[in-house]
Amino acid sequence: MIVLGIESSCDETAAAIVNDEREILAETVLSQEEHKKFGGVVPEIAARAHLEHIDEIIELTFKKAGVKPCDIDAVAAAAGPGLIGGVVVGVMAAKALALALNKPFVAVNHLEGHALTARLTAGVKYPYLLLLVSGGHCQILVVKGVDDFERLGTTIDDAAGEAFDKVAKMLGLGYPGGPMIEKLAAQGDENRFSLPHPLQYSGDLNLSFSGLKTAVRKIIESYSPDGKVEHAILSPQDTADICACFQKTATECLVFKLEKAIKYFKENYPDGEDLVVAGGVAANTYLRESLERLAKHSKLNFAAPPIRFCTDNGVMIAWAGLERFQKGYSDPLDFKPRPRWPLDANAPKAAGAGGVKA
Ligand code: KG4
Ligand code: ZN
Repeated sequence: MIVLGIESSCDETAAAIVNDEREILAETVLSQEEHKKFGGVVPEIAARAHLEHIDEIIELTFKKAGVKPCDIDAVAAAAGPGLIGGVVVGVMAAKALALALNKPFVAVNHLEGHALTARLTAGVKYPYLLLLVSGGHCQILVVKGVDDFERLGTTIDDAAGEAFDKVAKMLGLGYPGGPMIEKLAAQGDENRFSLPHPLQYSGDLNLSFSGLKTAVRKIIESYSPDGKVEHAILSPQDTADICACFQKTATECLVFKLEKAIKYFKENYPDGEDLVVAGGVAANTYLRESLERLAKHSKLNFAAPPIRFCTDNGVMIAWAGLERFQKGYSDPLDFKPRPRWPLDANAPKAAGAGGVKA
């Protein structure tokens, strides 16, 4: 079985072709550079750039794979959650291809794409415990199967990647912030500033990064003659130290809640063997190493997709599309893209729906 996947829900225009032997036949990713000067993704600019490039990206992907369009079995596209202008572009392209080729269309939840990537790259078996950390989401889930998730906890405010991006913006480091913070943190003293661990003792598995970001803001403001972040006078070492302290604290917040999630996972899913991290922030080596230690200590296997498959890409959509199609899922051509689309949308709502108590 061969599936084409299209991704366009944020600032990457991407396509890939994978097969059911877990082989990537080709992939193409175009990261939009247009947003750098704005310190974040501008939705209208993103939508226009997707529209401009999507056809050539798909064409190039077929060419690289040496596969003829008529040889694929299904066309998948990220149909949400995400920036709706971009999502519509990818979904429209996928539906047009599906119609022209007379092949099924598969609508993929972008988060399910991230969530299932480790099954392609590491052959991880269901069920597994997943930390999903991206620019828009931060969740702890049990992945039980295709379309079958138990959400244990979520951020109540900023996503982890969003916090990296906002801290980077305050430090004038540009967008996306995560890779730059990671690079500078390597030269920093992670113990110089003490930062808070929001919700550490909340008794549940939810997370919060807004207070952490505010604490970083206060430190930066204290280096400014007029208290304004943009006028702060920071030496390169000060900046590196702030990056290191933020990265360490954000990681500790995640590890602390994951320790509790592992306890729940082991009690409730005794067959589960793996801790998986996915999403853009999973590209962070400091976080990956911390999670690897945690998994080892907890006697779980650890899997993280190769760094290039952590940030948005077409492979994750093609693979999730393939798994869905194998399960018998496909979608009608009038499927409406969903700007909001929780992963556990099909789960029965628990009373209070606040996730697992820990
Ligand atoms: O999954 P993704 O590509 O897009 C979304 O679905 O949101 O994630 C992008 C996020 C951005 O916030 C970016 O700063 C973060 O992932 N990121 C990182 C690193 N690389 C990307 N955060 C921390 N360390 C990194 N090395
Ligand atoms: Zn993503």
